[in-house]
Amino acid sequence: MKLDTSMSEIDRAAIRDMRRSYGEAGLEESKVAQDPIAQFHTWLTEAAGNAVIVEANAMVLSTVVDSHPTSRTVLLKDVTQSGFSFFSNYESGKGKALDANPNVSLVFPWYAMERQVIILGSVTKLPAIESDEYFATRPWGSQIGAWASAQSTQIESREVLEASFAKFAEKYPEGSVVPRPDHWGGYLVTPTTIEFWQGRYSRMHDRLRYVRATTNSNWSLTRLNP
Ligand SMILES: Cc1cc2nc3c(=O)[nH]c(=O)nc-3n(C[C@H](O)[C@H](O)[C@H](O)COP(=O)(O)O)c2cc1C
Repeated sequence: MKLDTSMSEIDRAAIRDMRRSYGEAGLEESKVAQDPIAQFHTWLTEAAGNAVIVEANAMVLSTVVDSHPTSRTVLLKDVTQSGFSFFSNYESGKGKALDANPNVSLVFPWYAMERQVIILGSVTKLPAIESDEYFATRPWGSQIGAWASAQSTQIESREVLEASFAKFAEKYPEGSVVPRPDHWGGYLVTPTTIEFWQGRYSRMHDRLRYVRATTNSNWSLTRLNP
């Protein structure tokens, strides 16, 4: 179906009728890895190798403060048995939210593969040395951007932002070592629930959920109704 984007108001019936049939590829308890991190690796590798999926490592991070949820996209930068890592500004909206409440959800929306992964867990800041190491690998412009932007605060104009970039570009010229700002670094999401969703025919989707009570417990696997 094609939406007529020239319409000033999107046709509500057209939205209601947007649906696609999902394929036959299923998700079976006997075929998934016992370890959800290993299973996640398999799916991330497949998503990254899928030409239709852009930014396979993009994930929607949701935080909750005073019962109000907020979501935004961030990029997964590492996944190990310890959990899922991303980088950001510690003083941003999400940084403040995470200071107040470390509980988060992550969603990987791999629609083109009829797949979704939902992770529940809590965050801690990565050790400074790990943030330093990753910051050093970033392109110079991104490093300067981390200095130039007080992420999520109001700014008067684009010109003010560009002047800020120019100021730090002069302070740390291209080719020099740019130090990591204290306000910028990594987070580690330690998971307690990881759910794999695979679209199937007639909305009879597969949902396999791995849960563990604590980080020292074993994962248990359950199937959920779609
Ligand atoms: C594809 C994509 C990737 C992004 N990756 C990051 C990221 O890794 N870190 C980050 O701080 N913001 C990233 N952003 C921007 C965030 O979505 C968000 O605008 C910003 O972090 C401010 O969010 P906050 O006000 O909730 O803190 C990304 C946005 C998109 C669309």
